[in-house]
Amino acid sequence: MSVDKESFTWRAIEIPNWDRIYQELQILPSVIHRENPVFWASKDVSAYQQYLPTLFKWFDEKSLVVELIAYVRIFKNFRQTYHQDLGYTLALQLPIINCESVYTGFYTTTDRAIFTKNPNHQYLNYPARNMVEYDRYYLKGPLLADVSKIHSVQNFTDQERHAISVRFTEPPWGLLDN
Ligand SMILES: [Fe+2]
Repeated sequence: MSVDKESFTWRAIEIPNWDRIYQELQILPSVIHRENPVFWASKDVSAYQQYLPTLFKWFDEKSLVVELIAYVRIFKNFRQTYHQDLGYTLALQLPIINCESVYTGFYTTTDRAIFTKNPNHQYLNYPARNMVEYDRYYLKGPLLADVSKIHSVQNFTDQERHAISVRFTEPPWGLLDN
């Protein structure tokens, strides 16, 4: 059965050799985020390819072509801006550090968006005042999330939270077919 894209927010998925991939992800904080300590959305994925061979082998097997990888570092006691990621729907979210107790909420609001542009990425940001949460996930393993819906990472822990968000040339809805 195919998924209802209108109402879809997120779903955990199984990736073969996840334990090994998770081990490979642990190298990233020391080699990747040094380049840009807050948020690095890069279309040059060669560095990731080098450090994450098991993950990229699975991408090849599934014919998934990576368009961009965002390294998402959320400071302790920090709430990410409420936003929509423009140009993407389904993102593959993978935990690296301190993701178990940090959630990503999905929200509705009556407020209007404010357009924001970063070098590699465009967003619609929203004021926080009228946000109503209707769903959330804790990134305990690989999952697919619809980042075209309003969302925000809420880190109320006393540690930084690191994860990567993989965007493909085509949204991988097929991964959700049972
Ligand atoms: Fe996002």
